[in-house]
Amino acid sequence: MPFIDALPKAELHVHLEGTLEPDEMFRLAARNGITLPWASPDALRAHYSFTGLEHFLPLYFEGCAVLRSREDFYDLTAAYLRRAASESVRRAEMFFGPQTFLDRHIPIVDQLGGILDAIADARSDTGTVGALIVTAQRHRTEAAALELLDTLRPFRDSILGVGLGSAERGNPPSKFARFFAAARAEGYRLTCHAGEEGPPSYIREALDLCGVERIDHGYTAVRDPGLVARLADDGIPLTMCPLSNLRLRVTADLSTYPVTDFMRAGVLVTVNSDDPPYFGGYVNDNYTALQQHLGLGSGELAALARNSFLGSFADRSEVDRALAAVTAHEATVA
Ligand code: ADE
Ligand code: ZN
Repeated sequence: MPFIDALPKAELHVHLEGTLEPDEMFRLAARNGITLPWASPDALRAHYSFTGLEHFLPLYFEGCAVLRSREDFYDLTAAYLRRAASESVRRAEMFFGPQTFLDRHIPIVDQLGGILDAIADARSDTGTVGALIVTAQRHRTEAAALELLDTLRPFRDSILGVGLGSAERGNPPSKFARFFAAARAEGYRLTCHAGEEGPPSYIREALDLCGVERIDHGYTAVRDPGLVARLADDGIPLTMCPLSNLRLRVTADLSTYPVTDFMRAGVLVTVNSDDPPYFGGYVNDNYTALQQHLGLGSGELAALARNSFLGSFADRSEVDRALAAVTAHEATVA
């Protein structure tokens, strides 16, 4: 088995709704009596060419329309976790944005109940540990995000953390400072999409005004060497998504992708898939793309895998076990 396929890793940046494969979208549409605006999965795939995040998001939200029942959320999560286990993902911290579905009057208990049941079953079937990070949508108001925290309260003990997703430009982290403060008071782990399309100042705001522990993407830090040094000094992990950044035109070319520059500067960089079917690859495709375009060797790939556990919200014993597994795998090529 190739080195990357069997390399133990964590995935820290994947949107459950963004793992919906076209064939599965059509299967769920038929199950729920929903007519999609595309004639077939191939006709849908023909639309997978994006000019940027705000071009992508409407299509992504349109696909979400097929997710209705507890069983749908179960199937979505189970399929992703099966795939993750097959790619040697030992831990997956998965984003999910309930506001899309609350708008459609789908009870939170159906949404999270289905997801949490699939997480429990996947753990006993494959050993992969799944955890849930609920995202608020930043194009909405902070009041809506605070209301979401109220809605989540019955599930507080089953949710690992909260984050912020959706359209970044014009919606800076500062807009959500009170949301993050309230989430921190409830004991959630905190992460935030920042520096995907937004400027480096959004990354600084996420750290300084929202107190987040991790930055999702963080790509535009490449324009701010002082910020890169700060991320390294403070041990702030970046959950980077190379194929997503390529497909959403955040970066023009993976041969200049800054992952090795960031690593050399001491930043805890991780590699992830974001919305795999939409962007042409799951997590191992992302590792492979970097291997091919940047000439990464097994030592650098293993370092990225170590970072994925070090940057996770797992407890120390889980991290230590995973790091030992990475070292054991690395020894197979020595
Ligand atoms: N939701 C799903 N994918 C996203 C991305 N790449 N950025 C922000 N929000 C998202
Ligand atoms: Zn994302």
